[in-house]
Amino acid sequence: MSDTISTLLDENRVFPPTEAFSAAANMSNPDIYDHAASDPESFWEGWAGALHWYKKWDSVLEWNRPYAKWFLGGKLNACYNCVDRHALGPRAVKRAIIFEGEPGDIREISYMELLDEVSKIANGLLNLGIRKGDRVCIYMPMIPELAMTMLACARIGAVHSVVFGGFSADSLHERINDAQAKLVVTADGGWRRGHIVPLKATVDEALDMGCPSVEHVLMYRRVGLPGNTINKIPVPDYNVGKWEPIRDIDWNEHILPLSTDCPCEEMDSEDMMFILYTSGSTGKPKGIVHTTGGYMTGVLATTRWVFDLKEEDVFFCTADCGWITGHSYVVYGPMANGATVVMYEGALDMPQKDRLWRIIDRHRATILYTAPTAIRTFMKWGAEWPKKCRLDSLRLLGSVGEPINPEAWIWYHEHIGKEVCPIVDTWWQTETGAIMITPLPGITKTKPGSATRPFPGISATILDEQGRDLMPQHLMDVKEAKWLHSGGKRPSIGGYLAITRPWPSMTRGIYGDPERFVNTYWTRFKDAYFPGDGAKADEDGYFWLLGRVDDVMLVSGHNISTMEVESALVDHPAVAEAAVIGKKHEVKGQAISAFVIIRAQFKQHDGLIEELKAHVAKKIGALARPDDVIITAELPKTRSGKIMRRLLRDVAEGRALGDTTTLADPAVVSALRDKYESMEG
Ligand code: WTA
Repeated sequence: MSDTISTLLDENRVFPPTEAFSAAANMSNPDIYDHAASDPESFWEGWAGALHWYKKWDSVLEWNRPYAKWFLGGKLNACYNCVDRHALGPRAVKRAIIFEGEPGDIREISYMELLDEVSKIANGLLNLGIRKGDRVCIYMPMIPELAMTMLACARIGAVHSVVFGGFSADSLHERINDAQAKLVVTADGGWRRGHIVPLKATVDEALDMGCPSVEHVLMYRRVGLPGNTINKIPVPDYNVGKWEPIRDIDWNEHILPLSTDCPCEEMDSEDMMFILYTSGSTGKPKGIVHTTGGYMTGVLATTRWVFDLKEEDVFFCTADCGWITGHSYVVYGPMANGATVVMYEGALDMPQKDRLWRIIDRHRATILYTAPTAIRTFMKWGAEWPKKCRLDSLRLLGSVGEPINPEAWIWYHEHIGKEVCPIVDTWWQTETGAIMITPLPGITKTKPGSATRPFPGISATILDEQGRDLMPQHLMDVKEAKWLHSGGKRPSIGGYLAITRPWPSMTRGIYGDPERFVNTYWTRFKDAYFPGDGAKADEDGYFWLLGRVDDVMLVSGHNISTMEVESALVDHPAVAEAAVIGKKHEVKGQAISAFVIIRAQFKQHDGLIEELKAHVAKKIGALARPDDVIITAELPKTRSGKIMRRLLRDVAEGRALGDTTTLADPAVVSALRDKYESMEG
């Protein structure tokens, strides 16, 4: 490891696009940045024009900080743009979706077939009383019906709220109620590492906790009953849940027989399109709202330029549709462009550690978009797995979710990209809707570990604590950035990333909580959007993202708030107090460490630590399960009673303790560290 770090410190390689790539790229003119910056509104208006509108907009932008409206007065439908216009045109028999289930079942769905399926589902939603503006919660495995249900909602103007299938009943319950969903669309289960994720049973459990807004549960049969076989693989035993007549609706009876004819609702550009929940600094998740015209413009544009998407591409984004990456770059962005997308249901090591490479080989995928945590996992598994597969169809690679460390970048470049595919490291968020900071592969010289520059039409900068602009005066040494990404040291935050102009796909707020919206993103700086990330810039004006500066952890690229995990812990009868931090982890980026104080009257037993980990997984979902739970008598607090997480991080990451002068009782941390080290040892 330390060898790798020193080689990276010594190397200052930049990777310019090859001449051949630039010559064929969708965008290869470097003047585009200045051109877009000189008149961003007309730049974005140009992109909006690439969508189909029933009625053109009257004006481009109305900006009443912090609320933007884009393409005012325009009427369009997202589903029409993603499905009908391809199905009714030259792409009718082009594949829209290539799906692989974990058991190896394969389906290919053309745009024409997609139109039929989506229309049936849309008719089914209408029959269940769903109308424009109603919220529909979707809790499904990563199968075509998930994308189809999203598109069906968009077709009739219903607002979808997709909840990732790995979330617990508690998390689902909270999200259903926050959005006041009328309908939950789910499946009996989904495959994950040879097991069945019992989705319907989890919906039952969530509804048993009380979800008064829900009228029906629509269930697709993905796995069937135990003993059923898929691709000759028998479905193992799983909790099939219960069947409540009237409330529960069977997809086979209710959707399959319906008409394939369902008109699209003409939506206003600013009509709400979807809500997607993301973790914030407090325990309660934020329902991030996106509207139609601006969102569709942002994803259409970025898909075409960042991924250099061409007619014959086969686009494989490995994200689940439960996350924003799945919304924007599995469904809406690629399909707005009429692309062929690959969807995969299951685990990356099923049946073997080469599953992803087999999928690329089998379907000749040309673009791969995945996360650093997955790349680090592949590195750990070894280059012999991809070596056995034909990866020569690949021509472009992408990364998203967290800063990519240069070692992982180089491995991706050498072993997957065979040193010829450009890598686009894309920074963005649920809130931004679309990619914000990224190379353009036909123009940008890339540097491992840097997301490079804002997309044309996006204005970003780096501000200090007081909101003073640190660009371009406060520039860092690239070597330092590389060191920050590779070393065991927590980055010292250079400054705060800030977006200084409205952009079309920006969120229109937090569902039902305008005050929190203002406080979270618009209070820290007077004139800019504050995403919550630290950043530095180098002498070329490239951005180096340094991770979150708030209490949100990035565990395998997924946002989890420290408070959410703390609340789950204190919910357990044994726990009096808990403090949670994200500590550096080689594969996950960050892993969760929890420090807990046990109630005096509680009798500790051997299995308690495992029990606490399981409790968090049950409350939030397996992705929030802590790696370590450290039982302690006290937590380091300031004199005013605030827990000093920075010191806990120092302890967990085994560093010399920083400044402890503000501590009420400095002995607490050294005691904690002794305990931690004895555990580790
Ligand atoms: C982090 C995922 C560095 C960042 C699209 C952001 C990144 C949070 C990158 C949003 C990247 C995402 N480099 N950091 N390329 N991409 N992040 O909402 O901290 O799930 O604020 O959206 O992920 O996570 P979200």
